Amino acid sequence: MDHALLERKVVFFAGKGGVGKSTSASAFALCAARQGKRVLLVSTDPAHNLGDIFHAPIGGEGITRVAANLDALEVDAHRETHRYLDGVKENIRRTVSSTMMEEAMRQIDLAAHSPGATEAALFDRMVSLILEESQDYDLLVFDTAPTGHTVRLLTLPELMGTWVDGLLKRRRKRNKDYSHWLGDGEVPDDPLYDVLSRRRQRAAAMRDILLDDSATAFVFVLVPEYLPITETRNAIRELAAWDIHVRHLVVNKLLPADVTDAFFRERLAREERWLDRIDEYFHDLHQVRLPLLPGDVDSREALDQVAAAIEAELSKR
Ligand SMILES: Nc1ncnc2c1ncn2[C@@H]1O[C@H](COP(=O)(O)OP(=O)(O)OP(=O)(O)O)[C@@H](O)[C@H]1O
Ligand SMILES: [Mg+2]
Repeated sequence: MDHALLERKVVFFAGKGGVGKSTSASAFALCAARQGKRVLLVSTDPAHNLGDIFHAPIGGEGITRVAANLDALEVDAHRETHRYLDGVKENIRRTVSSTMMEEAMRQIDLAAHSPGATEAALFDRMVSLILEESQDYDLLVFDTAPTGHTVRLLTLPELMGTWVDGLLKRRRKRNKDYSHWLGDGEVPDDPLYDVLSRRRQRAAAMRDILLDDSATAFVFVLVPEYLPITETRNAIRELAAWDIHVRHLVVNKLLPADVTDAFFRERLAREERWLDRIDEYFHDLHQVRLPLLPGDVDSREALDQVAAAIEAELSKR
């Protein structure tokens, strides 16, 4: 991991369940805050645990101060889904005839339970945090849900772009046909077209930020074992296909090198073999290696310890 990671505007922490995403994201955020950056740490994992890590009641609507220069926010997937659909209803009200209204509203309420609705809503909030709500911060750190969910979330703008483009194209044609039929050359007012093109612009702005290496970084967290390594490789490949390039790894929970008993010597030998694999598979990525602490990272002291380890690794380069 290079020092420049601290110069980014947006840093995502992703990885398999339980590998230490929340711990690493929190410790990294703390480390940046200590260096004087104004940091907002955001959890988009429906199973939040920033509150437990910082021993502070986070959640509800608001942003909570958890340390000097460091605020935290747990995005509530359920509330965002309803907020998002209310926004959709608002747009529809302006565009649908009153005879269709009741049915349209019923369809939107049903959509709350459809697959993808939560992702769309979480993504929408993520976009507004990055594009509109972050003026007071130098750095946004995202603690995300386990890999599959995150990959879907990050590749949404691309999908949405194509989907909205298709709709826009059809609307444009329809509007042109209308003006042709009316014979007056005037393009009719089309609020739906305006809504769609605003959506398109927002998605494009978000995409520009996600793909800008100097603004955004993606950090994959893993432990030196078979499954997390495989899952990380696959996810990195999948994201690369969408032009999202992962350049940083946190390799977490490394055993101390001086263990003496036979059981732990054997674990250590295995770990060394997996670390060699990590070097081989991810040779073009920066690595930060973090020690396994004797207990869980559930106190401020332990979190400070992880933050200090990250800081030491960052200043190596
Ligand atoms: N370096 C470490 N040393 C000791 N314990 C650790 C270390 N890193 C993380 N842990 C512990 O491992 C557990 C999982 O960590 P964490 O919650 O950060 O993982 P996660 O990837 O965010 O999990 P989830 O996928 O459930 O969100 C926690 O109990 C945490 O305290
Ligand atoms: Mg977590």
